[in-house]
Amino acid sequence: MRRAVYPGSFDPLTNGHLDIIKRAAIIVDELIVAVVCNPSKSPLFSLEERRQILCECLKNVPGVRVGCFEGLLVDYMRAQQANIIVKGLRAVSDFEVEFQMALMNRALASEIDTIFLMTSAKHAFLSSSAVKEVFKLGGKVSDMVPQSVERHLLDKFGYDKANC
Ligand code: PNS
Repeated sequence: MRRAVYPGSFDPLTNGHLDIIKRAAIIVDELIVAVVCNPSKSPLFSLEERRQILCECLKNVPGVRVGCFEGLLVDYMRAQQANIIVKGLRAVSDFEVEFQMALMNRALASEIDTIFLMTSAKHAFLSSSAVKEVFKLGGKVSDMVPQSVERHLLDKFGYDKANC
């Protein structure tokens, strides 16, 4: 059984993440999309909101389930009996960070390996932080995130935007 984990902040989920999830789900038997709870960061969406958004957007994707974790990724992987980490790569700058993380995770747990999927070209410019900034400043993000994410962004920012 090839069980993999795609970890991330998903604050919020973008079409780029969704593309990686769907492609990875075809390669492995089971994919756990795991939202990280990082107490030192202050995300826009709470852990529960991010988990709910993922559940909404992934309910029809076969072989995928949603999880969340706090602490070391490799500890979560062991608890889930998963030994493949899935990551998406957009640019060379991603590679440097991801290379270091993959080596660190390997040093911590030699039975766990990381596989990288290259972004689809049409999503290469997408990031959660860019989406949040564009939305906050009144830009159109409907081609960048699933509909449900856009609704949640409106819930978060709609009132403020109307009153500034
Ligand atoms: O979407 P992000 O914020 O780029 O995801 C980063 C994430 C969650 C994959 C990374 O921060 C992570 O693995 N956090 C868990 C803590 C951990 O295991 N750290 C050691 C590896 S460097």
